[in-house]
Amino acid sequence: MSNIGSYEKRIRNFSWDTAGEILNWKEGELLNIGDICSDRICRMGKGEKPALIWEGFGDRSSTYTFNDLKAYSNGFARFLTEQGIEPGDRVCIFMDKIPSLYFSFLGILKMGGIAQPLFSAFGDESLEVRLAGAGTKAILTTGKHVRKVRKIRDRLPQLKKVIVVEGNPDKLKEGEIFFDVEEAPRIDEFEVYRSGPETPSVLHFTSGTTGQPKGALHVHNSIWGQALTTSWVLDLRDDDVYWCTADPGWVTGTSYGIIGPWSLGATQCVLDSGFTSNRWYKFIQDNRITVWYSAPTAIRALMKDGDEVVGSYDLSSLRHLASVGEPLNPEAVIWSGEVFGGLRFHDTFWQTETGAMMISNYPGMEIKPGSMGKPFPGIEAAVLDLATHEPIEEPGKVGLIAFRPGWPSMFRQYWKKPDIYRSKFVGAAEDAMPEDLRQDRNLWYVSGDRASIDADGYFWFVGRDDDVINTGGHLVGPFEIESALVEHEAIAEAAAVGKPDEVNMEVVKAFVTLKPGYEPSDELELDIMNFIRKRLSPLAMPQEIEYRDKLPKTRSGKIVRRYLKAIEWGEDVGDLSTLSDE
Ligand code: WT7
Repeated sequence: MSNIGSYEKRIRNFSWDTAGEILNWKEGELLNIGDICSDRICRMGKGEKPALIWEGFGDRSSTYTFNDLKAYSNGFARFLTEQGIEPGDRVCIFMDKIPSLYFSFLGILKMGGIAQPLFSAFGDESLEVRLAGAGTKAILTTGKHVRKVRKIRDRLPQLKKVIVVEGNPDKLKEGEIFFDVEEAPRIDEFEVYRSGPETPSVLHFTSGTTGQPKGALHVHNSIWGQALTTSWVLDLRDDDVYWCTADPGWVTGTSYGIIGPWSLGATQCVLDSGFTSNRWYKFIQDNRITVWYSAPTAIRALMKDGDEVVGSYDLSSLRHLASVGEPLNPEAVIWSGEVFGGLRFHDTFWQTETGAMMISNYPGMEIKPGSMGKPFPGIEAAVLDLATHEPIEEPGKVGLIAFRPGWPSMFRQYWKKPDIYRSKFVGAAEDAMPEDLRQDRNLWYVSGDRASIDADGYFWFVGRDDDVINTGGHLVGPFEIESALVEHEAIAEAAAVGKPDEVNMEVVKAFVTLKPGYEPSDELELDIMNFIRKRLSPLAMPQEIEYRDKLPKTRSGKIVRRYLKAIEWGEDVGDLSTLSDE
């Protein structure tokens, strides 16, 4: 029997209080994610249970118990407090998936700070935009990545502390602090900050179609949604060994790579090394992993490497598989059933903004390969007519995926951007404040994705409603790429769009016009690619650059990405009457 049991029954009797029962949390108790995920598990007598089984490059590995998790997160909490970091301050975590990432995340929450995890592959420009945007006060990084912080530190007056948590302390520059939590005295007791449900917890930056990335702010109350979905969708239990392949620089890696599993006291595994199918299968085999949460791009890469590789490992420990981030193609679902002893990947749909899973395939419910499944109990979901924004009743008709506000893990604002927050709600009054919007059950929060619902209530993803590029499950904003492209000395104008890709679904393609005196060449193309890779990230790097004499524009002079994208996808380019014909 699965944790959810009957989906229909859960819908009928639903209350978010069930999450409190699962967490064994009583009214009036401290609500702090850092405490719930470590100290509370120890108080329940599970301090000696492994919390984190970690493997890195080569054969580096270590195991930490919940007692360790408690002590090392306390270590970070104490250290940050001593450094003058205060509740509400944004503290960035900028490192690979090393154990200190996990300890510091909980440590920041324990001292009342707002954790701002950023993907360690980000270049200096991606980093700068996000630190400036959040007014970040301290950054935790490693010897490997501190160079990028040095490049931008002068331009970030609010960034008071640069703390290096791993590497050679002799190589630090002036104004940088070294702190290795495992070398420092063990802190077994720390007085956790008295947060409440609405105290800010995590700030994740996410890309939109216009402007720079926005910070989606979450609160400690999010754990209600994360714990309950981890139980009912991932079916996680006390004796499971769980693996979430996502990096905590992205929301999957925090909601389901830290908070969800540890709130339930489960053992989780982290693999901090590059992808190869052999390494992945070996990791599952050696650690006897039972529940595995991954992404379509990885599944397609495994598929490509063939069934023989799978067959050479003992993967019999696996009992439940789930996926998120991009459309999970039916072939991948069917393939997984064939090679993993009848286990199929269960697709789940959600976003940085939703904080937790919204539409999923549940254990025990029939999977329709290619469908994202049904709304989580307690979540009211619809597809809205593209023009009228009224819920569509007719099965199969495409509209905008939308949710009634008010679920616990919903984002509470876009950091310092109330207008953009408001624009995500259909029916919002012009002067509505974030705190009114997030609980108004007359509104719809619009996700920015298109889908249809079939006669059985299953949701089918169609595509994004905007120009945001989804490459390997990571959203990349075209504006951010275009802004960086035009900083290159040779480029006059630029447009970035997603182009189809077999494994990553989409990769970035750039269309550029050159400044006088520059000629298209292979060297220039390589130079531009590297320029973007270093400044932004490998994800944002264009895989192809097309030189043009001019770019399509509206009469008012705005570049029309939509047109370039349609050509890339071999689609109808639509109404061009607004394009300039120069
Ligand atoms: C966007 C959110 C939340 C997890 C990771 C990404 C796309 C997400 C699916 C799915 C098709 C999906 C959507 C969504 N997406 N899950 N199961 N099928 N598309 O978080 O970076 O905020 O991206 O990822 O376009 O809006 P994110």
